[in-house]
Amino acid sequence: MIKWFVEKLLLLQLLIFPALGFCDPIFSTGNKHSVTVIGTGYVGLVLGACLADLGQVVTCCDVDKEKIQMLSKGMIPIYENGLLEIVQKNLANGRLHFSTNVDTSILNSNVIFITVGTPEGKNGEANLCFIGKVAETIGKNLNDKKTIFVKSTVPMGTIRWIKEVIDENNSKQTPYNLGYAPEFLREGSSVEDFMHPDRIVIGADNDETANIFANLMQPLIDAGAPLCTTSIASAEMIKYASNSFLSIKISFINEIADFCEQIGANVDEVAYAIGLDKRIGKAFLKPGPGYGGSCFPKDTNAFLKAAEKYGIDLKTVNAAVQTNSTRALKIVQNLENRFGSLKGLKIAIWGLSFKEETDDVRESAALKLIDLLQKRGAILHCYDPIANANALKVFPTLFTYNRPQDAVQYADALILATPWKEFLEVNFIDIYKRMNTKFIYDTRNFLDEKYLRRIGFEVESLGKK
Ligand code: UGA
Repeated sequence: MIKWFVEKLLLLQLLIFPALGFCDPIFSTGNKHSVTVIGTGYVGLVLGACLADLGQVVTCCDVDKEKIQMLSKGMIPIYENGLLEIVQKNLANGRLHFSTNVDTSILNSNVIFITVGTPEGKNGEANLCFIGKVAETIGKNLNDKKTIFVKSTVPMGTIRWIKEVIDENNSKQTPYNLGYAPEFLREGSSVEDFMHPDRIVIGADNDETANIFANLMQPLIDAGAPLCTTSIASAEMIKYASNSFLSIKISFINEIADFCEQIGANVDEVAYAIGLDKRIGKAFLKPGPGYGGSCFPKDTNAFLKAAEKYGIDLKTVNAAVQTNSTRALKIVQNLENRFGSLKGLKIAIWGLSFKEETDDVRESAALKLIDLLQKRGAILHCYDPIANANALKVFPTLFTYNRPQDAVQYADALILATPWKEFLEVNFIDIYKRMNTKFIYDTRNFLDEKYLRRIGFEVESLGKK
């Protein structure tokens, strides 16, 4: 009944508030634009909803009819903190729209963002097929001077190529601006990251393009976000260099963890102390089963491929990629050292998403573990607060549960693969009673190891032997 009432209230809001011209800007920019965002994946949806929240009128376009229908009703296809609220709020106040009609939306806008995916293609290179199609469409629909920003992650030289594609299709030779505005949003906290960025980067080859972007971001700049206006080539480099540097940090600490195990040092103590050096910084020094997600693995590979074309050998990035590729196997080998053969062993896995606060399982270390363990004949029982469904799309026969305690029933080992906060609240005395062998492998150094040992668990973690 309550659910029914809330749904009706939302519908009423969606129908009535726009009609009344009701607007509730949290910031007033004074400079309104009509914005089209092409591609309603995670980047496009967050960008569109946040720009609307900053006061712009935004239409998010996608070729996926079902998705657009869903979004138009105020429902979102991904789990992302705070996103549902701003989508619903800005649908209701009439600043956010969804459409499958890309052509019309382009014709009616003065600013266009390209946010379609650039998935990993053959040999690790970024696949620019979707972005090329969008550039064609924009070129064909340039009825007046528009400013186009690419937000999709693209390799060096892509913006130049996009310009060529637009030009080929721009039969009336209508003038336009083109810039590259890389995004630095983390899944799980992308709304927060958008609203409080460490920096805003715009790569542009003229002042007008840079000024229009600054204008869109003005509320964030006024709130203190540094704006970096660069050449297009620099902006392309900044995106890949940022993600690669963070990947290097993670692989570095993972190697240090291995070394710590050998000499009896504790990687958590080491990471904390080295991170206090401001030149190093505390972030991204958590050891784990290897970085995953839709960005780091894809972007580091694409960066290497792009560098290769220019005769540059990015040895540090390559090393980070190599190190990362061994992490899941190392964990499985440690299990084999402990149990011998894993055939028939009942293993519970907690956490399936590539990190906490997201249901995204792309390149998730947990799924790599599942693959390796299944190949060795282990029987897996898994739990994730929200990613079970996505994991089942990859491994349809996986046993999944709705409560962490159900996954560990009679288990011989429990692997914590993703550090969801709720695992800190679990009653481990109950878990202890349920498990067959009281063995926990904390691949994120996340749980209270001392407490678990006090209860009687045998605990394996990273970099602490
Ligand atoms: C990453 C970047 O952090 C964003 O700045 C960037 O915008 C985004 O990629 C992108 O290019 O779109 P994201 O993939 O959402 O964001 O995830 P991160 O929070 O960076 O984590 C990536 C992986 O590294 C996860 O598997 C995480 O568990 C792992 N990680 C992170 C560690 O193993 N240790 C750490 O200390 C930090």
